[in-house]
Formats: sequence, structure tokens, C-alpha cells
Amino acid sequence: MTENQKLKNWVKEMAELCQPDSVHWCDGSEEENQNLIAQCVNSGQFIPLKQRKNSYWVVSDPTDVARVEDRTFICSEKQIDAGPTNNWMYPKEMKVILNDIYKGCMKGRTMYVIPFSMGPLGSRISHIGVEITDSPYVVINMRIMTRMGKKVLDVLGNGDFVPCMHSVGYPLTDGKADVSWPCSTTKYIVHFPEERSIWSYGSGYGGNALLGKKCFALRIASALAHDEGWLAEHMLILGLTPPNGEKKYIAAAFPSACGKTNLAMLTPSLPGWKVETVGDDIAWMKFGDDGRLYAINPEAGFFGVAPGTSMKTNANAMLSMTENSIFTNVAYTDDGDVWWEGMTDDKPAHLIDWHKKDWTSDCGTPSSHPNSRFTAPASQCPVIDPAWEDPKGVPISAFFFGGRRANVIPLITEAYDWNHGVYMGSASSSEMTAAAAGTIGKLRHDPFAMLPFCGYNMGDYFKHWIEIGKKSDESRLPKIFYVNWFRKDEKGKFMWHGYGDNIRALKWALERVDGTGKFIKTPMGKIPDINEFDVSGLDISRETLEKLFEVSPEEGLNELNEMREYYKIFGDRLPKELLDEIDALAERLKKRRDKVEA
Ligand code: GTP
Ligand code: SPV
Ligand code: MN
Repeated sequence: MTENQKLKNWVKEMAELCQPDSVHWCDGSEEENQNLIAQCVNSGQFIPLKQRKNSYWVVSDPTDVARVEDRTFICSEKQIDAGPTNNWMYPKEMKVILNDIYKGCMKGRTMYVIPFSMGPLGSRISHIGVEITDSPYVVINMRIMTRMGKKVLDVLGNGDFVPCMHSVGYPLTDGKADVSWPCSTTKYIVHFPEERSIWSYGSGYGGNALLGKKCFALRIASALAHDEGWLAEHMLILGLTPPNGEKKYIAAAFPSACGKTNLAMLTPSLPGWKVETVGDDIAWMKFGDDGRLYAINPEAGFFGVAPGTSMKTNANAMLSMTENSIFTNVAYTDDGDVWWEGMTDDKPAHLIDWHKKDWTSDCGTPSSHPNSRFTAPASQCPVIDPAWEDPKGVPISAFFFGGRRANVIPLITEAYDWNHGVYMGSASSSEMTAAAAGTIGKLRHDPFAMLPFCGYNMGDYFKHWIEIGKKSDESRLPKIFYVNWFRKDEKGKFMWHGYGDNIRALKWALERVDGTGKFIKTPMGKIPDINEFDVSGLDISRETLEKLFEVSPEEGLNELNEMREYYKIFGDRLPKELLDEIDALAERLKKRRDKVEA
């Protein structure tokens, strides 16, 4: 086990509180994994797939299918430190509630202790957490998503770790029978950023339950990063190699279900270009001695959106999940495989859908939940980057921000400088997706794709980004771009094919990093010269291309006024530099409008 006193005390205290039948310390071995899987198969929760080795089909309770942002709390001592974008409760008050609901919550169950490392073991950028859970599903998924088990305790020694407490909140009191997906109608996803701890109750799904992911690697880590001068971001990391050229690394922040996994492992539609994957969801970045930002992927697996993933859109994701994978809330085929909307052009005639009901292609309902997901080991990705586990991290040359925007936002724009780029990040907004419970399609501000994931005051977060620019030699910092793959025409159809064709935007960005790419200045930033933008081999009209890059001063000004309003919620925590950026942008837009009108 461990000699770590803090860990031993905490586990003992939690066992006393939750009253499980037994406590199991996870060693991370294959034998342990197979035992847990056998248990889940025997209980009927896991259905083994005939077409994929060591892979399983699982469906959740229909009420437990996504992150619950309205039940997510940042409990700092002062409310102002959680900021206007987070739910807050006074820590002492929250702890009274938690102590009450966790009392006896693991009765009739085993309490698992999962030591895990976010990032390669022993990297100076990595951090260790320990998750306590009563869900074998969580243990099996954490084994794919993180490095876990005895090897982590060895590295931890007497060091510090982030305690991550999780219960599905379904005690088997008085011999009550278990259900295949235990969860509770009472849900709490709680973070104490100052004491660096996490308490999650009532959900077994994704980011609510796999606490290394959003809770630790983003909410707690963003607070750590703020205090220690580094960055914990909702970003994919990819390596981009041009034909006969030098490889560079890019990190991109898009909101949930807005294309990170797809961009991270894209199959370029331009010959000779190569994309390799470091990570598909989260990046931790620290400065190297050379003043550049070095990034690691703190995760070891992909928890990716299933619908829309196919051999055509994302072959590398499909090839990552051919074995050793878990499929949650997709459909089950008659020949013992999985299927979801968009996987193949033709729908199967018959399936068992995610409600475990018979489904036929003409029944009119989707077979899979829109936030159904696959859990697959990153090491199985055919284009995993050779440096993906390099403890030094990879040097980042460009940041991309973006979201789903049907209008206003051009395909790609380059910021004029660091602060303008920080403005762009802060101004990200996106139409909501099924990754969180809420209204799908509604446009909302999602600064830096971090709205649901920033563990402290978002105004201070903006300031942190501004400060990074001030402290650095700007020529060593990544160049910043804003992209939008989702602009639509009047008929509501995507104007850009996306996926593998996004390489064309990456190509221009890389040329801009090298200082060679031709550009045109617009009020919003630099955009490609469409006469030079590489659309070779694409079936796209000049008119569509012009629309994709259109900058409308009128729309830009409307957006900017709305942004001024939004900024007001941050009060005096909003860095002055961002107001300067907005003023400068307003000037540029007005000048352009007057010129157009003249
Ligand atoms: P999280 O795991 O929730 O953080 O999501 P993500 O950002 O990794 O999103 P993902 O790559 O899984 O894509 C989500 C959805 O967007 C899928 O249904 C994709 O098919 C779709 N998508 C991804 N890239 C593109 C694109 O370039 N164009 C279009 N039209 N759709 C895309
Ligand atoms: C997201 O919602 O951004 C995800 C899925 O990556 S979850 O792990 O549920 O947070
Ligand atoms: Mn995500």
C-alpha cells in the first residue's frame, strides 16, 4: 500500500464516513482490471462486444448523460474569488451538506482507491491525484484515461496529492438490490480550489465522475496554474509537419463537442501534410528555460463524442477504439458491435438503442444519445505523436480559439499581437452542445472554451493570460488565431466542409508562424489572401470562400457592443488591457464601416 500519512488518514476518514463493505486499493494491474470487468459483465452492466477485443457496451441511466453545470460549484472562501461565471457556496456550509449526503452512501458497496497521475509519471509538469469511488465503471475508465495504480503510489511517496472523492450516491441499504447504472437525483460536483480537493456526488457519467479530467485537470489545475504561473487549458495538442518541412506543435481551445478530438487527429486532405496527436482535450503548459511554452497532455486516453465519428470524418479515432475500449450510450448491433448516428452512410435495419429498446431505421428517434462517448487508450491512436509522453512536453507555436458560430466569425483570423489574442480568447462564444445538460444550439459566451472549467474568477483568469504576455518575450510565445469551421449559408448549410479540410487553415497558420503566409488586414485581425489560400482539390466556389472570410463592420460592431455588456459582469477584476483592445477594435471597425459607406 502506502506510507503516505495524509493519504492513509484521508482514506480511513472517508471509509468511516461512507461506510462501504470493503476498501480496495487499486494496483492498476491487468488482473485487477479483468476482475472488475467480469464483475460488471456478471451484473449485466457491461455487454462484451463480439467485434472488438476486450471492449464493452454500457448504457447509463437516462437522467445521467452529461456534465451538470448547474450542479457544479467552486467553493472558495470568498465568493468574488469564484467569480460571476461559477456557482458558489461558502466552503463550511457546503461541507455540512456534503458530510450529510456522504454519510453511509457506500453501504453494500466496495470503496475503490485509485492513485493516478495526470501526465507522464515523474514529469515536472505532471500532478498526482487519488480518486475514491464506489463505481467499478469509474475505475475501469480511469485506467484508460490516466496512468493509475501502484506505480503512482511509488512516485507519490510522502508527497502531496489532490483528494478526489466520488460516489454515485446509491447505497444498498437493508439489502436493496443494485441497478445497472446507479446514480442519484441529488447531484453535487464540488471543488475547493484553495484546499485543492474535489467532492462529486450522484453521477457516474464522464466529467462528473472521472475526476482526473475536468474537475482536477481543469478546475483545480487552473487555480494551481494561476498561482504558480503556468496554464491548464481545455485544449487539444497536435504536431503538424508540412511536406519536407519542420514539425511544429499547435494547441487549440474549442468548447465541448466543437471539434477538438477531430482536429487533434485529422487526416489532412492536402498531400504530404502530416498531423500527429499529443492530446485531444486538455493541455498543461509550463515555461521552458528558453522562454517557450511546453505542453503535456495530462490524460492517457480519449473520452470522445461518438455521434458523427466515422472512417470518413475521423478514421484515426475509429482505429483507436478497435479494442480495449468502453462505449457508453451508443447502440448495439445485431452482430455484437456498436453503432451510432453518422458512423456509416447506411443505417442498420435493427439495433438495440441506448435505452436498451429495439430500434429500427424508420423509427424516427436517434439510436444513440448525442453525448454518447467512447473511452479508448491514446496509445492505440495510429497517429499518436512520438513525443506524446515526453516528460518535457512539446513546444507550442500557435494557439487556436474557436467555437460553433453560424455567422459573423471568419474561417480563420490571426491576432495582431498577444493582447489582441487574449481578447479573442475572452470573446469566444459558441452554440451550446449536448456535452452539458442545457439548451442545445443557444449561443453563449464561452471564454477560452473554459466557461464551465475555470476554477476561479474568470476576470483573474483573463488577467493571468495578460500577465503571461507581459512577463514573456512575445516572439517566443505562440501566435494566436481564431477559427470557425461552422459558418452557415442563408439556407442553414455549413459553408465549409471541415474535418480533413481544416488542414488548409492549419497550413496558413503555420506559414504565418514562419512569417511567410500572405495576409490581408481586417478590423478583426489578419485573414488569408483568398487568392493564395490553398483550396486545391476542393469543390468550393469563389463566392463561398468570400463569404467564409467576410468581415462585416456592422455585425462586428453589434458583437462588440454585446461584448462590452458581457465584460461588465467581471467588474474591477476585468483587466484594463481588454477594454483597450475593445476600444481599438471599435476604432478599426468604425473606420472600415465609414470607408465602405463613403
Ligand atoms: P469534447 O470531448 O466534448 O470536449 O468535444 P470535442 O471538442 O473533442 O469535439 P469533437 O471533435 O468530438 O466533435 C464534436 C462534434 O463536432 C462531432 O459530432 C463532430 O462530427 C463535429 N465536428 C468536428 N469537427 C468538425 C468540422 O470541422 N466541421 C463540422 N461541420 N463538424 C465537425
Ligand atoms: C467535455 O464536455 O468537454 C468533455 C466530456 O470532454 S466530459 O469528460 O464529460 O467533460
Ligand atoms: Mn472536453
